[in-house]
Amino acid sequence: MLVLGIETSCDETGAALVQNGKLVAESLASSMTEHIRFGGVIPEIASRSHLESIPAVISELIEKTGDKEILQKVDAIGVTAGPGLVGCLSVGLNYAKGLAVGLNKPLYAVNHVCAHILAAGLEKELPKKFLALIVSGGHTSLVLVDGLEFKEIGRTIDDAAGECFDKVGRMLGLNYPAGKEIDDLAKKGDFSRYEFPLPLTAAKFDDVHFYDFSFSGLKTAARRILESRGRDSDFKIEDFCASLAQTVAKLLTLKTLRAVKKYEVETVVIGGGFSANSQLRKVLQKELKKESVELIVPSLKYCTDNGSMIAVLTEKLAEKKPASDLLVDVSSSLAIKEVQL
Ligand code: KG4
Ligand code: ZN
Repeated sequence: MLVLGIETSCDETGAALVQNGKLVAESLASSMTEHIRFGGVIPEIASRSHLESIPAVISELIEKTGDKEILQKVDAIGVTAGPGLVGCLSVGLNYAKGLAVGLNKPLYAVNHVCAHILAAGLEKELPKKFLALIVSGGHTSLVLVDGLEFKEIGRTIDDAAGECFDKVGRMLGLNYPAGKEIDDLAKKGDFSRYEFPLPLTAAKFDDVHFYDFSFSGLKTAARRILESRGRDSDFKIEDFCASLAQTVAKLLTLKTLRAVKKYEVETVVIGGGFSANSQLRKVLQKELKKESVELIVPSLKYCTDNGSMIAVLTEKLAEKKPASDLLVDVSSSLAIKEVQL
């Protein structure tokens, strides 16, 4: 099966062709440079950028295959329907609907988080049952996967992990997105120098939020430490970043381990831009090894938003499920359990 995937949920306009689980060609454009001066993604700018980029991204994709008729040969078209920024999603979904009608192909409106989870499958065969930890600037979710069934068992109740780094980065005067720079600074710091709280880990939260995350309190803690900077002649940004990174890695690992034990999985897959974080990789790898659980970490290009992850999920769906109704709409908060998969 040959499948076209289109992704426009945030700031990346992605398109890719996947055949039998393998990448055939991909094309990607980003509007990130247009958002930097605002310190975050501006939805209107991102939507307009998708509108302007999508014809060129599709043309480049066709060119890369060297076959002008390639789109006529696809068996299905997949597109992100949510979660994401509504204006951005609308551009991709409507473009995909146009292609589906024009080329008379089935359309699959798919869930972005489920696509992130299966992206690792482009490089390594995934087991039927595993646990996925998806961490990016927009999502932090623990998802139990069994074949094509996705059950979200934990999620952030406020900020995403990447969002936390980006917001603290702003306090530090770093450029958006600040994740990589905080990671690089942290590598040179003392991980136990500053104290951050571990939100939602106290026993009183066990009933309702055993597997959930919360990162917004870390911003307050960061602000407090930074406000006392003047009195601390020994303040070191590297130690500050290292302590923050260690706390976030600990939080993500702790909840992942709880889910690993409860659901008895043998494999954990990570994805999303924050999964590039070196401290998270180190702490998670170490703790999972103790439990004899395998950790699958995709290459960075498959961690971030792209068209190939949409194509991979679409191919799996198209093998088993009927296509979406062409009247399908976008949703900013398409919860995994609400998606018909
Ligand atoms: O998946 P992604 O490219 O976009 C979405 O948010 O959907 O993830 C971007 C996020 C940003 O918040 C960025 O700061 C963070 O991933 N990030 C990192 C690292 N590289 C990117 N966070 C921590 N450490 C990194 N090395
Ligand atoms: Zn994403």
